[in-house]
Amino acid sequence: MTRLADQLSALLGDAFAVMELDPALGRVSESDRPDLAPYQCNGALAAAKQAGKPPRAIAEGVKAHLAATAPDLDIEIAGPGFLNITPSAQLYTARARAISADERTGAGQVDAPLKVMIDFGGPNVAKPMHVGHLRSSVIGDSLQRLMRFLGHEVTSDIHLGDWGLQMGQLITELEDEQPDLPYFDASFTGPYPADAPVTIEDLARLYPQASAKGKEDPARQERSRKATAELQAGRAGYRALLRHFINVSIAALKEDFSALGVHFDLWKGESDVNDLIPGLVEDFKARGVAEESEGAWIVRVAREDDKKELAPLILVSSQGSALYATTDLATILDRRESIDPDLILYVVDLGQSDHFEQVFRAAVKAGLASEGGLEHVKFGTVNGSDGKRLRTRAGGTFRLADLIGEARERARARLAEAGLGETLDAGALEDVARKVANAAIKFADLQNYRTTNYIFEMDRFVSFEGKTGPYLLYQAVRIKSLMRKAAGEGLEPGEINISAPEEAALVRRLDGFHGALMRAHDDRAPNHICEHVYGLSQAFSSFYAACPILPEKDEAVRRSRLGLAALTLKQLELGLSLIGIEAPERM
Ligand code: ARG
Repeated sequence: MTRLADQLSALLGDAFAVMELDPALGRVSESDRPDLAPYQCNGALAAAKQAGKPPRAIAEGVKAHLAATAPDLDIEIAGPGFLNITPSAQLYTARARAISADERTGAGQVDAPLKVMIDFGGPNVAKPMHVGHLRSSVIGDSLQRLMRFLGHEVTSDIHLGDWGLQMGQLITELEDEQPDLPYFDASFTGPYPADAPVTIEDLARLYPQASAKGKEDPARQERSRKATAELQAGRAGYRALLRHFINVSIAALKEDFSALGVHFDLWKGESDVNDLIPGLVEDFKARGVAEESEGAWIVRVAREDDKKELAPLILVSSQGSALYATTDLATILDRRESIDPDLILYVVDLGQSDHFEQVFRAAVKAGLASEGGLEHVKFGTVNGSDGKRLRTRAGGTFRLADLIGEARERARARLAEAGLGETLDAGALEDVARKVANAAIKFADLQNYRTTNYIFEMDRFVSFEGKTGPYLLYQAVRIKSLMRKAAGEGLEPGEINISAPEEAALVRRLDGFHGALMRAHDDRAPNHICEHVYGLSQAFSSFYAACPILPEKDEAVRRSRLGLAALTLKQLELGLSLIGIEAPERM
């Protein structure tokens, strides 16, 4: 499967080689001046010095050679020696047919597949999810889809935050409300009642209650801290409660994530690696990686060339407890023992950069991971129109559930406006609203390079016009309806023949799919996929406007154009699926 630019590079490379110049000079790329020609090669300019000849003379030589050997190319020399290249219709036709015959519509796979773990989502048990967790979920899910598609062996893990002070806060608050529960008895050893003593609503209420009381009353906070320490030390009743809290949270999270179309292979959390911590700490001490400092155990991770000195990682606090970094290190150990990944990606906001740098350096120092085997895939913040981190009107953190609810509400209204309620029943309509809302939220997020902060504008995100998720769905739906209509007239897609410039432009876009996926892969940045599907939709629109399909009289032309439309739809839906977006049949 040779892509057009690569095919052209090979042809031009031969021409340079014949002139006893480096074939790499023949590299062809998409043109900066598509008004002149779709492809260009600047090799003659680069070769001039080496060859001791004026660049124009070299360009003439290349052109003359290609005139004899590559009749499928039209070559123009511009300015001091730029080569402008226009492939023939036959070349486009051959390429379009090859892409159309390929299951993956031209997308290749990585040369060296790895075992990859992706740690993303990361919601905290009992605390509501905020937009930071949304970004992590949307970016991480796209990366897992992409990396799997490109051939890596991927395992995703939600890595729940379930081992911090919030657990002690929940326990003490529940004890105040329901002191008669058996779990609070210090001699509790079971049996463990199967029924959870709380619902997800209880958890959502208990945590802010405890948190508010703790802020006012240091003694109350101390009680939570003590409960957390006892939980970590293994007090049976508290462990049983923890299990209940986690189970109740996971059940609710599974519903939310499944509505969002985000999947995790593993639903593990910080608490799952608790038993590994004592051994890990001992090992760090034995290897001399950890040292004692003011009653705590720390790992020094600063390096000479650090711009800003990195603080030591705290492995065990002076009160003897394990911290966030400790659970992350133990999780690396756990992953190594269970899956042994070549690479772990952490999709977490860039506010945690120092934390991950500390953890990675400590892990390498202790021989838990190799340099380059751990990667922090950072992302920026979602801001309000004031440019500051998004808040609710009341000033609180924006909750994921509210945001999704609002997007659905807008999508429903927009679909009602379009009169879709007349053709679809309520269930089907709600399914379309869900798809439109998810597309709006995901595309709005993913179209920005991940470290770029963006402003949250729901009105713009749900619009059917402009660079939005719903616009892309609308394009896909438009092609689907065209295909249905054609099928109704007994018309099947046929062999593709390219003639119009708009058709050639569409083929160039289709041809760019693989490159876009590889850029997204290499940068861990799904925005490249967004650019591709958006450009593809636009190229399709221009093609569709210039080359009518159903009204076309010539049967072969009609079927060729229909074939091109079917191919576009296939690649568009495939590209969208890699950013977690699903197109409905109608909207
Ligand atoms: N629970 C954390 C938070 O809400 C995110 C977890 C990220 N992953 C990790 N391995 N530390 O900030």
